[in-house]
Amino acid sequence: MRITAEKTEAPGQEGLYAPGIDHYSSPQRRDAVKKLWEEPVTFAILQAALEQVPRSGNLSVMDIGCGAGEGLHLLKALRATRSLPDLPRLSYRGLDLDEGLLRLAARTHHDEDDAEFWHGDIRTDIPEEPFDIYLSCGVPYSHLTADELQSTLSRLFRQVKQNKAQSVVVIDVLGRYSLEWVPNWGLTRWPYRMNFFHSEQQADTVPMTFWDAHTLSSCVRTASAAAGCPVKRQRLFDRSIMVGRHTATGQFNPGLPPYRLLVNRLENGMAVAADELRMPQVPDDAPDSIRMFYAGFRRQWNDVLDVMAQRASNLPPAVAALMLARGLRAVEHKLASGLGTGHSLTAVITLDGRG
Ligand SMILES: C[S@@+](CC[C@H](N)C(=O)[O-])C[C@H]1O[C@@H](n2cnc3c(N)ncnc32)[C@H](O)[C@@H]1O
Repeated sequence: MRITAEKTEAPGQEGLYAPGIDHYSSPQRRDAVKKLWEEPVTFAILQAALEQVPRSGNLSVMDIGCGAGEGLHLLKALRATRSLPDLPRLSYRGLDLDEGLLRLAARTHHDEDDAEFWHGDIRTDIPEEPFDIYLSCGVPYSHLTADELQSTLSRLFRQVKQNKAQSVVVIDVLGRYSLEWVPNWGLTRWPYRMNFFHSEQQADTVPMTFWDAHTLSSCVRTASAAAGCPVKRQRLFDRSIMVGRHTATGQFNPGLPPYRLLVNRLENGMAVAADELRMPQVPDDAPDSIRMFYAGFRRQWNDVLDVMAQRASNLPPAVAALMLARGLRAVEHKLASGLGTGHSLTAVITLDGRG
């Protein structure tokens, strides 16, 4: 069912994303960390997807689990901020289960004739017509169990094959080895609460699946084999290694410093003591690749703190804070390796269904 701006009068909203209605329309959501630490990674992901699409005619995008239409907003922001003159005209379709968010999306984008919002389930309602990019953002695929993701991707990849298309699939999920939930690293699906919503309403808990590079790549490989649709290229991205929203709630790893709050203070030119920002060691029983990644990351993060602590005495506090923020941000962006060590892990998959 298509949701249009005319059908948006229904008041109130129930269910999982009811508090999300306030959150997604709140200007507070776009804090300094989102703008300076997260959006550059999101834009790099979009760029990676766009690079794989032949540049001719319209760019058709299907936003899977579109919620309030964040994918459309990001594509337009990319066009505006990066001034990409060669970004073709966009034709966008969002698909989501949540009617309240879809109504918000339709209201927000009602004057754009290239945007449509559809109510449907990503597990079953993949449209038959081809799209250049099957986008996702805000970890919608983590709602699915591992088996459901596998069968959803198989169905999607089969559709690309049937369409004899070259399409890019962006798979955005929660990172299994984020510092935000170290005590849960042994689990792949557990009850998650989005209590970082900017809303008066309490968010419910919901089972979510957490992924790392190995498990996500293997799920993609199996889906590709089942669909007979080869993967031409795969790239993986970690977003928010130190500053995920749950560092501020302390909900799943209460011992962790509230890095998102602290870094937001720095990014706003407010001083924060280096000791508050120091990075802890991760448990010895973490997988080798994850332990090695965090060992190198921790060394560089803590080095920046030490170097900046020496320089800070000669600088106005606001300047020292901003320089420290910039140094830490550079470590995060430089070392992120797509292992599943961020709040979210994103795979950009190029499929070649033409053969
Ligand atoms: C955290 S929100 C992200 C929304 C949006 N993409 C964004 O970045 O703001 C996750 C979305 O996935 C949607 N979702 C979860 N399971 C779904 C399913 N089986 N089919 C369609 N949408 C689903 C939810 O309704 C929700 O809107």
